[in-house]
Amino acid sequence: MFRLSALDGERLPAFKAGAHLSVKTPSGQNRSYSLCSSPSENHFYELAIKKEDKGRGGSSSMVDGLKEGDLLEVIEGANYFELKQGQPRYIFVAGGIGITPILSMMHSLLHEDVENFVLHYCTREKESTPFFDLLSQEPFASHVHFHHDGGDPKRSFDFWPVFEKTSNAHIYCCGPQGLMDSVRDMTGHWPSEQVHFESFGVTPVDPSLNAEFSVKLQSSGKVIPVSAQQSILQALKQAGQQVPSSCESGTCGSCRVGLLEGEADHRDFVLMDDEFDKAIMICVSRAKSEQLVLDL
Ligand code: FES
Repeated sequence: MFRLSALDGERLPAFKAGAHLSVKTPSGQNRSYSLCSSPSENHFYELAIKKEDKGRGGSSSMVDGLKEGDLLEVIEGANYFELKQGQPRYIFVAGGIGITPILSMMHSLLHEDVENFVLHYCTREKESTPFFDLLSQEPFASHVHFHHDGGDPKRSFDFWPVFEKTSNAHIYCCGPQGLMDSVRDMTGHWPSEQVHFESFGVTPVDPSLNAEFSVKLQSSGKVIPVSAQQSILQALKQAGQQVPSSCESGTCGSCRVGLLEGEADHRDFVLMDDEFDKAIMICVSRAKSEQLVLDL
């Protein structure tokens, strides 16, 4: 758990629940982490980071390489998992450390005296559940259902009774791929604008399944080839084009680019279905057509 405050102790920029922060880790990598603190608290931000020993090194660097008082370089991230205020009801689903943006959302609702929400929180066991003590007490406890499967997929919570009947609730889900896929499958009959996903882990696609294609930059007309082994982002950078990016795993929203022509192969966890023909996350998504024309 990291609590960040401004160097001068002044107020930090406001954020909305669901937002993330892009951080330069001590090892020099850019990583995005959801803010888990209350948006009403403007003198500090909080991040909860699970050290992934088998990850790409960002979380280990944060956990092992930072000590109290260190200076951390951060960039305010975009928010593609923003809590829509004023909805009749909310159903939150979190898995493991995916609780972080959801915690911020619950803080935000409680701050506004909104009580019409429920959280289904899936973890392996009580002892390894982030924020278990906090969530077991009021004002959270009466909204929270813990589901522990002991690491056995056969004991996973069955969400079908929760999602079988559609309603006017908004669903927010953040967790590992299996949980997200399961909730996605069970909410296919819900209006897509009521179902929102964030993720913090993307299953890599075998590069041998990728095809070559090219991207054309609208402003200059320049055509840049993208090989099967590289992402659009890598190809653009190699060609000297400056494009923002952070997580490079399709989850943070930093590398969003307007799509003007061509058919994209969307592999991110940011865009909604109704955005598929006008935007692309270039760190992971590719092309189904031979060329994409980008708004760059
Ligand atoms: S860099 Fe984060 S979604 Fe592409």
